[in-house]
Amino acid sequence: MQSLRGKKIILGISAGIAAYKTPILVRLLKQKGAQVRVVLTPDAHAFVTPLTLSVVSEEEVLSSFVAEDKDNPVWNDHVALGLWADLLLIAPATANTLSAMAQAKSNNLLIATYLSARCPIMVAPAMDLDMYAHPANQKNLDTLASYGNQILPVGEGALASGLVGKGRLLEPDQIVERVIVHFNSALPLSRKKVLITAGPTYEKIDPVRYIGNFSSGKMGYALAEEAHALGAEVYLILGPHALDLSNAPFAVEEVVSATEMETAVFKKFPTVDFAIAAAAVADFKPLAPKPHKIKKEEGIPSIELQPNPDILARMGKEKKQQFVLGFALETQDNWKEALAKKRRKKADAIVMNSLTDPGAGFASDTNKITYIGENEKPKRFSLKSKNEVAKDIWNEIMDQG
Ligand code: CTP
Repeated sequence: MQSLRGKKIILGISAGIAAYKTPILVRLLKQKGAQVRVVLTPDAHAFVTPLTLSVVSEEEVLSSFVAEDKDNPVWNDHVALGLWADLLLIAPATANTLSAMAQAKSNNLLIATYLSARCPIMVAPAMDLDMYAHPANQKNLDTLASYGNQILPVGEGALASGLVGKGRLLEPDQIVERVIVHFNSALPLSRKKVLITAGPTYEKIDPVRYIGNFSSGKMGYALAEEAHALGAEVYLILGPHALDLSNAPFAVEEVVSATEMETAVFKKFPTVDFAIAAAAVADFKPLAPKPHKIKKEEGIPSIELQPNPDILARMGKEKKQQFVLGFALETQDNWKEALAKKRRKKADAIVMNSLTDPGAGFASDTNKITYIGENEKPKRFSLKSKNEVAKDIWNEIMDQG
């Protein structure tokens, strides 16, 4: 599922019966994270109320050039509004509004906003079937398309007139799909699938104890956020963590042990384009975890260990179309060790971070990396925030992958 987080959308509503669907459209856009401001044509008030739209959009709804305050009239600045938006979506667009748009007839705030907007324009027409098919209307649609406006198709079915045919407004969820595709299609990782492992794994010793490590999952989360921002469909497989996932705009599967992580990873791995192993997987797990809490009186326990599956090595072995990237955490800045790990695990690239670098590694918000890609030459980066490091890594992957 893709989000519209941070996107600013103006919804222009003109006076057609399909306007009754627009509060749902606003709600769906907002659920995807968009900020929505509504501009209504004056006649659209007959079909949907500004009050409903302002409640669902959580914004003031604009309709006229001047706000109605007799003593202090306020100019509703359509130029600023047009510059604010990342997208102007006009839904429903009636024959009258399409005609005014095509002829630059700036007789209401919506048309003035349309004419002054610099952002992309998306138009969802809605009208009766004969009006829709009329050559004058089709000519207007062609004219608008020739200006670079994106014209959405109409739906087919029962119309308010009682006739059946082409002219219905696309359903709100279909319009939202088009909006998402619009924002993603220009992005470098659009239609790509990315799998990322992150965080530590915990291996049970007894019901209250485990073998684990200090990994916070922050680096893997930053890589997932960046991949999402670049348009990818992201699956994050995350070990035990203290991250806030409430705003995660991508799929997260939480796991505990290495075996659980492996199972979750290989459910997705065959279908993805990129796989990044950023997790600090415990190399060993207790051979026989105790069913009861180990008591002091039993003396100092000796815990027999067995190896965990190496998830990255299995990715390297089973990869087909996937670009596989691993991490190498070294306690010394020895890129040759990292290179050997890359070769051993058949990764396409490896990112080394060294625990000896101040500010690099597990719990901190910063990291200092060396990237070793296809040419096997180490490329060193300075100490940066993990978000900046994620950008550097994706830039390297996209150069190579
Ligand atoms: N990795 C993995 N599964 C494991 C161990 C490691 O997927 N069981 C992955 C890590 O996510 C990382 C890479 O392998 O991308 C290297 O991890 P690291 O801990 O640096 O290397 P190890 O293989 O554990 O080798 P060593 O501990 O000897 O340095």
